[in-house]
Amino acid sequence: MIFASDNTGPTHPNVLQAVVEANAGHTTPYGADHLMEQVTQRLRDVFEAPQAAIYLVSTGTAANAITLACQTQPYQTVFCSDVAHIHEDECGAPEFFTGGAKLTLIPNDDGKMTPAGLRTAIEGEENRGVHGLQRGPVSITQATEKGTVYTLDEIRAITDIAREYALPTQMDGARFANALVTLGCTPAEMTWRAGIDAVSFGGTKNGLMGVEAVILLDSEKAWEFELRRKRAGHLISKHRYMSAQMGAYLKDDLWLDMARAANTACNSLTRGLKQNPDVTLHFEPRANIIFAAWPRAIHRKLHDAGAYYYILDGGLDGPGDAPLTARLVCDWSADEAKVSAFLAKMTA
Ligand SMILES: Cc1ncc(COP(=O)(O)O)c(C=O)c1O
Repeated sequence: MIFASDNTGPTHPNVLQAVVEANAGHTTPYGADHLMEQVTQRLRDVFEAPQAAIYLVSTGTAANAITLACQTQPYQTVFCSDVAHIHEDECGAPEFFTGGAKLTLIPNDDGKMTPAGLRTAIEGEENRGVHGLQRGPVSITQATEKGTVYTLDEIRAITDIAREYALPTQMDGARFANALVTLGCTPAEMTWRAGIDAVSFGGTKNGLMGVEAVILLDSEKAWEFELRRKRAGHLISKHRYMSAQMGAYLKDDLWLDMARAANTACNSLTRGLKQNPDVTLHFEPRANIIFAAWPRAIHRKLHDAGAYYYILDGGLDGPGDAPLTARLVCDWSADEAKVSAFLAKMTA
């Protein structure tokens, strides 16, 4: 009954097998391996973007920060929501890798940046002459940190504003696949056709051991990305093991199957929680993350039964009737049995 994070989930066996297979003999290092050639081709096909530049790094933080560094001057500001991972959970990596650029935070609505909020924030910058920051890229997270998903129209509404001000756009897609299967659209529709210039294409949370792809839909910054990735210490020498993971992820659409499994478990957990009068959902879950509150006494019961998840606003000691918020995340391996066991414990 572990719902702490999709990072706690196992690596898919096909991915491990691909790493074992990649271990045969010697091959060229630093991304010049033949498996990476295949991954690049496959991702270009998946994104319907034959010109895209594709790179692998080992963390989502690196994917976001190095990409943003290519899109941002040190005297600019990145527009993101106030709950964006790049703001709350990357220890200042975007500021560090951009050489000191700022983040301008836009109040979120259900985890999403709103077009009106974005416009106000953009208008609030670049009006103090040399004393103020200049406008930089717009970054959105899909699926969001709150488990919600931008619709295609919502993405377009944001990127239209970015275009109006000639600002580049970036998508933190740590949970790209979970959002994609919810929308039932193509990667192209969710990205460049909706005005996105660069994507962190997540893999680790969705069944890989530790690989994220960066997709630069406009390859103009490709060489700069390569230099910055090296300088950041993210050009992996034995790269073939990274390529092998991403290759297995894409093969026969394993990435989509795993995201569907995670979302299905999340839907089932959501349905069960909604039937429990002690539970209040904070957002309507649209991917694989749930934020919900219920009384501490029930948290204690779950904890005693071995359930593991994050409680955001208090510990297990205190009044039993006080509501505490849980963040529950389903990974690709979560199944009906695990969900039912959790729900049953809540009412036992
Ligand atoms: C929205 C989002 N972006 C990016 C990341 C990637 O972070 P990491 O550097 O831990 O791989 C995470 C992981 O928690 C995330 O939730």
